[in-house]
Amino acid sequence: MADGQIDLQGGLRRLGKDALIAQLHEERPLCRDVNGFWVASRFDDVRAILLDHARFSSSAMAGGRGGRPDGPLGGIGFPLLTDDPPRHSVLRGLLAKAFTPAAMEAMRPTIERLAKNLAAAIPMGREIDVVEAMTSPLPVAVIAGMMGVPSDRAMDFKRWSNAIMGIQDNPFEGERIRMLMELRAYFTALAAERRASPGDDLVSALTQSSDTTEVLTDDQVVGFCILLMIAGNETTTNLLGNLINRIADEPRYWAALRDDPGLIDGAIEESLRIDSPAQMLMRRATADVAIGGVTIPAGEPVMVYLASANRDPTRWGDPASFELARERERHLAFGHGVHTCIGAPLARMEAKAAMSALVDRFSSVARGREQGRRLPGGGLLFGFRSLPVVFG
Ligand code: HEM
Repeated sequence: MADGQIDLQGGLRRLGKDALIAQLHEERPLCRDVNGFWVASRFDDVRAILLDHARFSSSAMAGGRGGRPDGPLGGIGFPLLTDDPPRHSVLRGLLAKAFTPAAMEAMRPTIERLAKNLAAAIPMGREIDVVEAMTSPLPVAVIAGMMGVPSDRAMDFKRWSNAIMGIQDNPFEGERIRMLMELRAYFTALAAERRASPGDDLVSALTQSSDTTEVLTDDQVVGFCILLMIAGNETTTNLLGNLINRIADEPRYWAALRDDPGLIDGAIEESLRIDSPAQMLMRRATADVAIGGVTIPAGEPVMVYLASANRDPTRWGDPASFELARERERHLAFGHGVHTCIGAPLARMEAKAAMSALVDRFSSVARGREQGRRLPGGGLLFGFRSLPVVFG
């Protein structure tokens, strides 16, 4: 890396992630990319930027995904994720009740039952795609349940979120647009239905006003639904796939988890750290900000590189190696500051339920003969589209 700008996507392709991140830490922890955004890769800088919502706005999270007024989503964006305080605080309040520790505890038996049933359906000694068998259906069923969406629509959730994230199997743009229109129509009808007769679910909560909150328009409710659908399933699927992938490389890890299921929590945290399901976030500087001798000018976008912050060599020894029982240090995989993932406790509960059910039923895991397929590289999300394994 010479002085001047870096080429992050090119570097990822050329060097691979491990080497690129090591190089960023060593040579260019805060620098500008050839595509005009800044890249923050040190743990302390990333944490400071995420805490400083006044000078680093989340408006940059809007990106280009379907938000254009003439696009298939008719300009619907992601409320909450793209909002700054004070509006952000009001919107977050709408979800808060559904994510309290008590609400999470109440969901635990259902989540554990779902995970056990999925594990029980996996045949022993036969190659299966664990994404299809466990890592995808569990979070989809959970978030669909929270939104009060009937379980027969669960497969649509997966197709729709893949279409939004641009990771669908069908490569035709026309098909993608058709799916985006389909999901918009579905959530618009759902919002209208719940506004008219609310139930005890997240979508109803979003449609109801209170003394402290404004009434959201149908489009805003639809945007929220899309955010929850994606946030609730893609990332958790990726966490579980990434973890099983790491463990399949080291058979002794499965034995260790079986011997001592108390290690599962730490294994989940280590997976979140080293294979962060959300690799990066975006912010926009609202003023000139100096960080460690570098000034980011007002108005410029900043890529907050979570995957790199979580491998900062000043915090973790040998940061690119997966260690099952690593000394716990707080990672940033769920973000930091006002936007910290509201679903983090839920994601951890689902991952634990899935791993416990699998470890309980099977005495080993090995890679299948088919290659696993990663999500398209270099993007926001890091995980598997398919991961063939054999449980024994
Ligand atoms: C392993 C799984 C997950 C990971 C790695 C993850 C990661 C993240 C990250 C990094 C953010 C911060 C975004 C920002 O600062 O701009 C975030 C926000 C969010 N996450 Fe998650 N998430 C996960 C699971 C979930 C689940 C299961 C749900 C819901 C059911 C969820 C709902 C949300 C929501 C609504 C936000 C926006 C919060 C706000 O802007 O205040 N996430 N997530």
